[in-house]
Amino acid sequence: ELPSPEPSDKKTIIKAIRKIIDENRVKTNKVVVSVSGSSINVRYLKMPKMPEEELTEAIKWEVKKYITMDPKEAIMDHLVLREVMEEGVKKVEVVVAAAPRGLIQDRISLIQGAGLIPLAVDVTSFALWRSIKINDDETAVLIDIGAGITNINIVEKEILHFSRDISLAGNDLTSAISEELNLDFHQAERMKKEEGLSLEKETPVTKAMRGPLERLVVEFERSFRYFLAQTPGRKIDRIILFGGSARLKGIDKYLNSSLGIPAGLCNPLVDIEFDEEAFDRRHLEDLGPRMAVAFGLAKREANS
Ligand SMILES: Nc1ncnc2c1ncn2[C@@H]1O[C@H](COP(=O)(O)OP(=O)(O)OP(=O)(O)O)[C@@H](O)[C@H]1O
Ligand SMILES: [Mg+2]
Repeated sequence: ELPSPEPSDKKTIIKAIRKIIDENRVKTNKVVVSVSGSSINVRYLKMPKMPEEELTEAIKWEVKKYITMDPKEAIMDHLVLREVMEEGVKKVEVVVAAAPRGLIQDRISLIQGAGLIPLAVDVTSFALWRSIKINDDETAVLIDIGAGITNINIVEKEILHFSRDISLAGNDLTSAISEELNLDFHQAERMKKEEGLSLEKETPVTKAMRGPLERLVVEFERSFRYFLAQTPGRKIDRIILFGGSARLKGIDKYLNSSLGIPAGLCNPLVDIEFDEEAFDRRHLEDLGPRMAVAFGLAKREANS
């Protein structure tokens, strides 16, 4: 989270990364980074089962039809999710991620600029998904509400089925408070964090945030409808909230009552062991929603 809503230049970002690494006395210099946003394409394909190298080539051809960028400019990778039988033919379900080369290169040059070594580039949704434990018999919606972007993911039977970014998040709540109550951005930001949402009686801060929150709910409903329409009999069991704006007081209750689905904060610490002498559990739990992507990215390397 950068301290202001303005887009920052490369130097500022590199300095901010370096500062975080130094201040927290991070011992490693190896980094896994993720990308997100509408220029990242995530597609699901069913392909005949074949050897891995052939599959890679076949996917490249197939996915060309579905991506929104010039295939020559795309960096692609895939993951085999599971094997399925279809009309007597063994097939594999794969998820393919494609990103514009320039975006990946920019991200890597930020890491290298800060004197760090990039190990891998992942997709933010995948990191979120990996950061927590979801039972294989439930359908969960993972919602990351950040500063500029809200990212919605739907996981069913341990597979990520749906992923979408909306440019509406914490900064929009702050801007609305700033406009309604005539405060500057920083004052509004403080009010937002101190007061949060109150459902019982409508405070001025709550009233100011109503517009952007209602628009978010409309977008969530739209995504749910799209997902549910794919297969009859589907339902969504719960909503798990991530990102800094998940810490907005009362947001879980608000979403629960407006969407009619139980909503709660993520706890990415559930299956992570740590030295309780060196790290304060309460502090880590408080950071949890903002750190979920980082935990998910770190797990990727720890597991491989
Ligand atoms: N206690 C809190 N109450 C309400 N909002 C909060 C609180 N703490 C942080 N936020 C909001 O969380 C947002 C930052 O979240 P996060 O760190 O997840 O963003 P980001 O990942 O940098 O942004 P993005 O994902 O949009 O690029 C800011 O809008 C900030 O105001
Ligand atoms: Mg984020």
